[in-house]
Amino acid sequence: RLPDASALVVFGVTGDLSRKKLIPAVYDLANRGLLPPGFVLLGFARRDWEHGDFAQFARESAEKGARTPFRAEVWDRLESSIRFVPGSFDDDVAFDKLCATLEELDRSHGIGGNAAFYLSVPPSAFPVVLKQMQRTGLANTGGDAWRRVVIEKPFGHDLGSARELNSLVDDVFTPAGVYRIDHYLGKETVQNLFALRFANTLFEPIWNSQFVDSVQITMAEDVGIGTRAGFYDETGAARDVLQNHLLQLLALTAMEEPVSFSAETIRTEKIKVLRAVSLPDDLARYAVRGQYEQGWLAGERVAGYLDEKDIPPDSRTETYAAVRLGIETRRWAGVPFYLRTGKRLPRRVTEIAIVFKKAPHLPFDQTDTAELGNNQLVIRVQPDEGVTLKFGSKVPGSAMEVRDVAMDFLFGEAFTEALPEAYERLILDVLLGDATLFPNNAEVEESWRIIDPLEEHWASTTPFRYRAGSWGPTAADEMLALDSRRWRRP
Ligand code: BG6
Repeated sequence: RLPDASALVVFGVTGDLSRKKLIPAVYDLANRGLLPPGFVLLGFARRDWEHGDFAQFARESAEKGARTPFRAEVWDRLESSIRFVPGSFDDDVAFDKLCATLEELDRSHGIGGNAAFYLSVPPSAFPVVLKQMQRTGLANTGGDAWRRVVIEKPFGHDLGSARELNSLVDDVFTPAGVYRIDHYLGKETVQNLFALRFANTLFEPIWNSQFVDSVQITMAEDVGIGTRAGFYDETGAARDVLQNHLLQLLALTAMEEPVSFSAETIRTEKIKVLRAVSLPDDLARYAVRGQYEQGWLAGERVAGYLDEKDIPPDSRTETYAAVRLGIETRRWAGVPFYLRTGKRLPRRVTEIAIVFKKAPHLPFDQTDTAELGNNQLVIRVQPDEGVTLKFGSKVPGSAMEVRDVAMDFLFGEAFTEALPEAYERLILDVLLGDATLFPNNAEVEESWRIIDPLEEHWASTTPFRYRAGSWGPTAADEMLALDSRRWRRP
């Protein structure tokens, strides 16, 4: 099914997200034939650009960032449907021009009044953009045409500010018109959790506290903070990714089967999980945050966080966070969910590891039982997208020795279809009006309920140091050691 004829209006279209992800995703959709015949891309940003400047910027972004091969004929067709309006968000004249351009495009390209507005702007700019949309009537057509708004994280800074933001958005758009992007939900491997769990009989019977010892969710990055010092230093790892990506992964791992595959039923199940999440009583031991010091990565010396450009030398912002969470339901009672994320870790890897309980009895003489029968199901979100099942196997030979082996499924081997980029999928869903992969405001608020006490606890502490290129502070290892467990080395 193709989306209705429509416009995608991007505020902040000259920014990083737009250049690296949004424009390439639009190109990929065009290249795969997934855009409707009446489609326009309308950009708005402060830069004083002519159409030609923007067209060139967009073309370069697509050439560089697209997943699918660049084809001039596809681009040329798309280029005839893109427009740019310069202006700042508080400039009424510029906003009126934007409205006029949209109407003009409606007449020339027949988009039927349908438009999705992508707020690719810093959260501090949300209020003014939303007010302008309200003032100009952009948010509402009054007729049958649809108007949707897409909001990028961070959705607030804590529960209070998230509520404020939600009510601000709700004043301008109806809840069904609001799409909050958590791009992890756009990843194929994350959606595969639904298939893995609910399309098979194999896993679900053991997906509970009777068989599962613990769950480890890791989002490791080798990169530092790049050019985002200002944003990152105000945000930190927990607000940047724990509050959203990692808690969403937890929700999908732990949720009950939805009664159908729809936005409403899936959100209902995710919210139930988030509501049941509990923090440890002993936060001092079970919530660890760290900050990277200089070190080595891939043979290169990298600077410590405090030496990064534009970071205050006394910053106490964390670049690593790990926490033990519980889920107070019959299915998960007593099963710890260990979540960790960090920048400047040895490699980029995101995975969910379901660690199963050991066999209650081993009828072998083997003395080294530490690694023995450590059954694990590892869902590799990225890279090397796939699933690995680890189990004990007999080592060939005359003795009865058991060692862990792995059974591997790789998307790249099993399928010829290429994995689409998360943003491609999510933009298409916005145009289609399918909100299944978008968290709603209740989920966002529940997530802050979990994060706020952590932040409060950390506010008076200094993060532990860890060497860039290591797996994080030793306190994080000690946290698992307290529970007689160890972090996986992905
Ligand atoms: C973003 C965070 O949401 O996700 C970044 O703000 C992080 O700090 C990024 O680097 C990681 O995304 P991905 O898709 O590369 O894992």
